[in-house]
Amino acid sequence: MRLRTLIVVTLLSFPSLFAHAQNAGTPHLEKHGTATQLVVDGKPFLILGAELLNSSSSSLEFMRPIWPRLAAIPLNTVLTPLSWELIEPEEGKFDFTLVDGLIDGARQNKLHIVFLWLASWKNGMSSYAPVWVKQNTERFPRVVEKDGNPVEILSPLGKESMAADARAFAALMRHIREVDGSAHTILMMQVENEVGVLGDSRDRSPAANGAFDGQVPRELMTYLGQHRETLIPEFRTVWEASGAKPSGTWQEVFGSDAKADEIFMAWNYGWYIQSVAAAGKAEYPIPMYVNTWLGGWSDPHPHPFPSGGPLPEVMDVWKAAGTAIDIYSPDEYMPNLGEWCDRYHRGGNPIFIPETNGGAIGGANVFYAVGQFETIGFSPFGIDSFVDRERDSLMDANNDLGKSYAVLAELAPIILQHEGRGEMAGFLLDKDHSRTTVELNGYRLEVTLDQIFETEAKTGFGLVIATGPDEFLGAGSGFRIAFSPTKSGPPHVGIGSIDDGTFVGGAWHPGRRLNGDENDQGRAWRFVSKRISIEKAVVYRYE
Ligand code: DGJ
Repeated sequence: MRLRTLIVVTLLSFPSLFAHAQNAGTPHLEKHGTATQLVVDGKPFLILGAELLNSSSSSLEFMRPIWPRLAAIPLNTVLTPLSWELIEPEEGKFDFTLVDGLIDGARQNKLHIVFLWLASWKNGMSSYAPVWVKQNTERFPRVVEKDGNPVEILSPLGKESMAADARAFAALMRHIREVDGSAHTILMMQVENEVGVLGDSRDRSPAANGAFDGQVPRELMTYLGQHRETLIPEFRTVWEASGAKPSGTWQEVFGSDAKADEIFMAWNYGWYIQSVAAAGKAEYPIPMYVNTWLGGWSDPHPHPFPSGGPLPEVMDVWKAAGTAIDIYSPDEYMPNLGEWCDRYHRGGNPIFIPETNGGAIGGANVFYAVGQFETIGFSPFGIDSFVDRERDSLMDANNDLGKSYAVLAELAPIILQHEGRGEMAGFLLDKDHSRTTVELNGYRLEVTLDQIFETEAKTGFGLVIATGPDEFLGAGSGFRIAFSPTKSGPPHVGIGSIDDGTFVGGAWHPGRRLNGDENDQGRAWRFVSKRISIEKAVVYRYE
């Protein structure tokens, strides 16, 4: 019996262990039209979050003054690192004082937590494994690279490592179920962090070499056969270029270059992490995701990114290795957010952005991620850099992220209601991408950088929701919209009214009627720069 099967069968043999695992309010994912939503206490939830610097949450003392500042931003969720070494300092002896204190800190500030399980790997390395794991290289073998030297990376082929990590994670999830099974402060779990081999395209330890020269596992070959038509095209091309064989060694099936190495590592990391996640879910089945250090096959070799991490090109390999991971996520620090979201959105994978830029960039990008990709959540990294100034680039002196979050928190009930129905669009504009077109509810919306008189916006961002047959709700800054019809009928579209306003508890409170310079005397629906406004527009058609 394979080790993972053994772990799961053992857990399933003791139903009392997870008899209380789930109640109706337990955080879970649910389809809403074409979107996937996080549902908490029976209601859809949009994570307006941020991630702490790596070490802040290792000390309750250090966190004490930080919690209220996070709540004031305002965030609703904190992505909170939690390391294996701190909860199992001695093998088999668990200490959950830190977990309880973090949950308490979040609750006192009306915040939710997504825990980051920093265990076997963090940024490819194994720095967060307990010392009793690090020291015992025979029981917990390391990745060996081309030069023959072991590195400080646990080999994903290490069966004892996988079992030890899974046991610790299961113990953690059991504890979370016991202390949070009805309050639901904890929304989701990130399993490990940015995994993959660094410095080489694959593990060359004896166990890895043996597996690499052996047959591709049956589970992966069966998945390829069953999903051939829907495989991620970049991956399918590699398989088909070698003849789409139904079996063979890794190089026979996937070719002899580094792509075969990356696919091999993806399988081994996927198998290991799916096993750890499954052991945790057997105790308390809340949504679980993995995050990715982005890179790709087109990058120069040797691998500048960790080989085997859940990149889009190997997402199918991870999926073939198990079903306990619900979301494959990009850590998105690059300028092309939309392209990465498009790549990750394939195959029904929901979008969740666990790490990204904050500040003005994050404050703009979050509208795009929510409006265009219906993200489950958004979370800039290093939000508490106001305390530890090691990373000045993360400072957000104007709280631009918070200004965006405040608006999105107001709109969240309406956003969530319209997700998955083709009724929403988001956009980002700058001088190189100064216009875009979206079609909603029988209208074409030409969205451009705002300009009026002698002023012109340099950037623009926002989202629009079709809330009724001729009615739109918009939010954002620095853009204007011109309407035209996409359905038969009178050829022209006029603006009936535009109001700005606010939502209080989901109810619309109109403010000003915007009908002068504010809508360019009826020519366009404008969202001026320098502030983020919420506006409703009613349009009509005429001959
Ligand atoms: C990505 C990692 O996942 C984080 O933990 C952190 O190390 C950041 N990079 C640093 O920019």
